[in-house]
Amino acid sequence: MQHKAHGKVILLGEHSVVYGHPALAGALADGVIVETTPGRGILRIPQWELVIDGDSDVALARAYGEIRKRAGEPALDLALTFNLPTGAGLGSSAAMAVAIGRALGLQGAALAEAAMASETVIHGKPSGLDHTVSIAGGFGIFTRAAGLMPLRAQPLPLVIGHTGKARDTKGRVARVAELLNERAGEVRERFAAIEALVGRGADAVARGSYGELGAAMNENQRHLEALEVSCPEIERMCAVARDAGAFGAKLTGGGGGGCVIAVGNDAAVADAWRKAGFQTFTAVVRA
Ligand code: PMV
Repeated sequence: MQHKAHGKVILLGEHSVVYGHPALAGALADGVIVETTPGRGILRIPQWELVIDGDSDVALARAYGEIRKRAGEPALDLALTFNLPTGAGLGSSAAMAVAIGRALGLQGAALAEAAMASETVIHGKPSGLDHTVSIAGGFGIFTRAAGLMPLRAQPLPLVIGHTGKARDTKGRVARVAELLNERAGEVRERFAAIEALVGRGADAVARGSYGELGAAMNENQRHLEALEVSCPEIERMCAVARDAGAFGAKLTGGGGGGCVIAVGNDAAVADAWRKAGFQTFTAVVRA
């Protein structure tokens, strides 16, 4: 049998979300797929030529152990496929945990709890956004105080490209903290401006107005550049995407590398990124 779970993308509001402001997130449909066959709990990830059979001190095996111990003794083996780049800020580890949890029969609060435990092994101190979006699907507005509030909207086609550089969530979060010390007034104004963009963007996705969403993404990217969480590769990808007809483009997640998202004219944007040497794929945000 097949079990699936979504990845995630932050459409607007990364970094300011750390300081209590809202972020608009969306699910990347079917980011991870797990196939089960009768067995005894062996986990295979053929893309990584990895087989987890029994206890091991590898983080992934410990994360899997957290899920297994909540699910009892499985009479199944699992084969897992990632349909997303991993380690790129697209929620692949949370999707992995949710798909495995589902394959082992977990649901509801038990599934969420197992996914959070797995994410804690992999990330240390996760906010919980990734696994929450992975389970819920669709769009949502996330705040640290209230968690995820679902938002009704039509499926949103997105193009995602990778800078080829690892994202630097930790370093960039630290730089924003420094800037907040050095130039508090300016940084707080930018956070407030980004919060307004999250509101505009949420309204735009609810109405299916991708032009307005794209405009909000472009403005958000300018604030992220001023907050020093962008990098030349991200800015080049944004320029290439806009030249190819994207309504908007911006970094997603921690920045400093990692992925760029664009909305509008996806085939032309994907083609332009590929020609410029960036890895790219198209995805649909939906429930
Ligand atoms: O790079 P990711 O997908 O882990 O996203 C980081 C998002 C930040 O807002 C920069 C940090 C956070 O914890 O929310």
